[in-house]
Amino acid sequence: MRAKILLHLGWLVLAHGSSNGNGPRCDENVTLSISASAINLDIPSTFSLSTLNVEDNIEGLLKSFPTTTVTGTYTIAGRYCEPANSIASRSITLQVLVHGITFDRNYWSGEGAPGQGLNGTSYSWIDYASEQGYPTLSVDRICNGQSSKPNGLLVCQVPFNAEVLHGVVEAARNGSVGGRPFEKHSEGSLIGNSLSQQYPDDVDTYIQTGYTPFLILGGPGLVVAGGYIPALLADPVKFADVTDITYLAGTSVSGVEANFFAGQYSRQVADFAYDHRGTATTREIASIPLGELPAPGFKGAALAMNGERDQAFCARLPTDPLIGYRGDCGEGDLSYTALAKTLFPNAAHFEYVNLNDTCHNVGLHYTAQKSFKIAHEFLAAQGY
Ligand SMILES: *[C@@H]1O[C@H](CO)[C@@H](O)[C@H](O)[C@H]1NC(C)=O
Ligand SMILES: *[C@@H]1O[C@H](CO)[C@@H](O)[C@H](O)[C@H]1NC(C)=O
Ligand SMILES: *[C@@H]1O[C@H](CO)[C@@H](O)[C@H](O)[C@H]1NC(C)=O
Ligand SMILES: *[C@@H]1O[C@H](CO)[C@@H](O)[C@H](O)[C@H]1NC(C)=O
Repeated sequence: MRAKILLHLGWLVLAHGSSNGNGPRCDENVTLSISASAINLDIPSTFSLSTLNVEDNIEGLLKSFPTTTVTGTYTIAGRYCEPANSIASRSITLQVLVHGITFDRNYWSGEGAPGQGLNGTSYSWIDYASEQGYPTLSVDRICNGQSSKPNGLLVCQVPFNAEVLHGVVEAARNGSVGGRPFEKHSEGSLIGNSLSQQYPDDVDTYIQTGYTPFLILGGPGLVVAGGYIPALLADPVKFADVTDITYLAGTSVSGVEANFFAGQYSRQVADFAYDHRGTATTREIASIPLGELPAPGFKGAALAMNGERDQAFCARLPTDPLIGYRGDCGEGDLSYTALAKTLFPNAAHFEYVNLNDTCHNVGLHYTAQKSFKIAHEFLAAQGY
C-alpha cells in the first residue's frame, strides 16, 4: 500500500541549526507528518520470540497469523544535516539513516548532536558522511525517540515501520527534506530490508550494519538477558511519558551491554549508551523476522557489515546471549554476514565485511571510523 505525505512541518532554515565550524550544518528539528497504511499482524497475546525454535519456519508461522490493516498519520522527527564539503554528485544523494532497536537518531552521531557526540566525532557517521559530501537524514523510527508513540501492539510492527519509511523517502524525493528533491538514497537496517521487499525501487543502495538472516538464533536469549520490562517500571523518571505498557526497556546493565558491545570498546561509551537507551514494543520485537525475508525485487547494490562478534545476529546457539558468550559471524563466504546476500538475491552488487573485535553496535566500537570508511568507499565504488 502507498504511504502519502499529507504535509510537512517544521522545516527550519539551516542557519538556526547546530554548527561546529567545519562540521555539518544541521536542522535538529525536522518533523514530517506521514500518513501510512500497512497490513500488520494480529499476533496472539501468547506469542513471543522466545517460544520459537530454531527449526521453525518463521515466515510460515508469522504468515499464519490473521492480519489487520492499520492506518494513521504520525509525526516522524529527525535531524537533517547539510554536509560541510560540497560535492555536486553527492549533494543530490540523501543518506537516510535508520537506527536499530532501543536507539534513536543520535546513534548516527555518537549519541549526541553531530560534533558533540562521545569523544567529539569519533563515533559519528554523520560527521564522516559530511566530510565526504553527503547530506544525511537521521530519523527517529515511529514509536521511538521524538517521533509519535502510537499503540505498541497494533501499530509498532515492522510492516508499518516500513510504510512510514516509504513515506519519508517519498518526502525526500519531493523536496520536503533539505529544501531540494533528492534523486538517490542509501540506507540501512532491518526496516530497510522490509522496505526493499515492499518497495524495491525506493532506495538505490543499502548499507546494512548489524544484520544477518539469523536473528532468530540469538533473539530470544537477547530479550531475556536484557531484562526488558515495561519502560515505565524500568525507569519511572526517564520514561515518565511512556505509559503504554507494551513499550519495554532493559533493566540489566550487564545484559543490555553484552547484547550490544564486545571486543574493543570504551566502557564509558557502553555506559553512556545504556543510560540513554530507548524502548522497543513487544510487537516491534515479535515482528522482527519480517525484516529478514528475501527482497527479490531489489536490483541495486548492498553492503552487509557486521561486528564479527554480533551477539544479536551471529549467535550460534539460542543460549549464547544468556551465558555471556559473544557472537561469531564466521569468516568468508559462509559467514552469517555473507549469507545476508540470500535476502538480496537479485542485487546488482553485494559485498560483506566482518569487523574484528566488534559487536552489534558497529558505530560505537573502536572500529567505528574504520566502518565509516569502508561504507563510504563502498559508496564511492558504486559511482557516488
Ligand atoms: C511527490 O511528487 C510527485 C511528483 O511531483 C507527485 O506525483 C506526488 O504526488 C508527490 N507525493 C507527495 C506525497 O506529495
Ligand atoms: C528542538 O526540539 C526540542 C524538543 O523537541 C527542543 O527542546 C529544542 O529547543 C528544539 N530546537 C530548536 C532549534 O527548535
Ligand atoms: C577519542 O579520540 C581519539 C582521537 O581523536 C582516539 O585516539 C581515542 O581512542 C578516542 N577515545 C575513545 C574512547 O573513543
Ligand atoms: C581480524 O582478525 C583475524 C584473526 O582473528 C586476522 O587474521 C585479520 O587480519 C584481522 N583483520 C583485520 C582487518 O584486522
